[in-house]
Amino acid sequence: MIDLKNEYLSNLKRAAEKIRNNDDIRVYSHYDADGVSSAIIISEILRRQGKKFHLSFLKSFDINAIKEDEDKITILSDLGSDGIAEINDERVILVDHHSIPPIEDKKIIDLNPRTYGYDGSREACSSSVAYLLAISVDDSNNDLFPYYISGAIGDKQDVGGYYGINFRLNEEFGKKYPIKQDINIDGRSVTDAICYSTDPYFIGLTGHRDSVREFLKEMKIDPDSSLEKLSEEQKTKLADKLMLILIKENTSKEGYENLVSKRFFFNSLGVSGKELSSYLDYAGRSGNMGLAVAWEMGDEEAFDKIEKTALSFKDELINEVTRAAETVKEMNHIQVLNVMNESLTGTVSGIVMLYILKKNKPTVGIYKNKGIKISTRATRDLVSKGVDLSTAVATAASAVGGHGGGHNIAAGGEIPLDSENLFLMKLDSIVGEQVGNSKNAS
Ligand code: C5P
Ligand code: C5P
Repeated sequence: MIDLKNEYLSNLKRAAEKIRNNDDIRVYSHYDADGVSSAIIISEILRRQGKKFHLSFLKSFDINAIKEDEDKITILSDLGSDGIAEINDERVILVDHHSIPPIEDKKIIDLNPRTYGYDGSREACSSSVAYLLAISVDDSNNDLFPYYISGAIGDKQDVGGYYGINFRLNEEFGKKYPIKQDINIDGRSVTDAICYSTDPYFIGLTGHRDSVREFLKEMKIDPDSSLEKLSEEQKTKLADKLMLILIKENTSKEGYENLVSKRFFFNSLGVSGKELSSYLDYAGRSGNMGLAVAWEMGDEEAFDKIEKTALSFKDELINEVTRAAETVKEMNHIQVLNVMNESLTGTVSGIVMLYILKKNKPTVGIYKNKGIKISTRATRDLVSKGVDLSTAVATAASAVGGHGGGHNIAAGGEIPLDSENLFLMKLDSIVGEQVGNSKNAS
């Protein structure tokens, strides 16, 4: 185990004991890359311990769903803690990293790193916590390392280098996996890798196969070659040219940092950490979590299916990014766009924030159906200037009868259908106050 504050270690031990001493366990997890990765780690802990368990994925902390099996030991993973006070019970193990409201007379076993003074947005995600729990149950569970990495990449905790708890986990358990400074793209061919790359997103190339082939031919690179077959010289040239595109398009700092990075490769799974992360994200968002779990259990057919369908999902994502970016409306301190696919609202908002729209205002993605789903994204630069989307969304949403939260750099919420304009005005004004420009707010 890595070195952690005593209170955190002792609660990890308590949670491990609780798992060892109970046979029937209920698990709820979030449906994004971090949630699915965390769920895979938790399921493996329980399977290896011979426990009976039932896993469900939720879009958010749904207290009614969670209360259905309230007599069982319950593990809540990556769901936030909005309603946690309502189930403040010894049977609940909280595997999370979102801001947590103060709880009087806390009975839950709280493994949220924030509770112990660690930064849940930067140094540990839910998969990091699930992995800490896995090692606390049995040290031999350290082979679940790839799933902690896929969660951390999904939550962008790798960008700019691993830090804090994540860094220490990598030092202690990650040394046996190949890691290489490389271009951060994946695909069967170099053309596929660029064409399907959404983070980084290369304007003019992502989603444009013919342009990618031309671009590669100009560099005397065979468009059908695999990435592994490129010489170091070709890779350097390719990275330089791709960087020029990002510079020309005025990409955010995170965008540049994401072009070349230290990449894990997991031979036993045949994928990079980033590929694993995007496959699990895809599986979760498209309702195919079963495929992800089957793959983890060694089902090769499940992997083939994920690989194929993930590409059509990427096509849908790229189309949605292009379409949504054209709907942008600027307010004083935020920029707002409409997204047509609920499960992509956050992903689309994140891509347009970092790579496509202006970098000086947070991006707000709106999905309308019976109610309105909100996904907001900022840059690290905006956060350093005072932007805190978690507080801003929570305050503006609750002022119009909704709710929300998340992280300073990425937050979400749900609001009533008729409250869009009021919500946006409030959000615009709060963000304006956060960056010290309240006089300009509407
Ligand atoms: O629910 P959870 O906390 O796991 O989700 C965090 C979300 O915030 C993810 O969609 C992740 O990609 C996003 N994020 C981001 N930029 C960051 C950190 C997280 O867009 N720097
Ligand atoms: O849905 P989206 O990816 O935009 O969520 C961004 C972040 O906000 C995630 O960490 C998510 O768990 C959090 N969130 C929240 N409360 C909500 C909606 C989202 O804490 N009601």
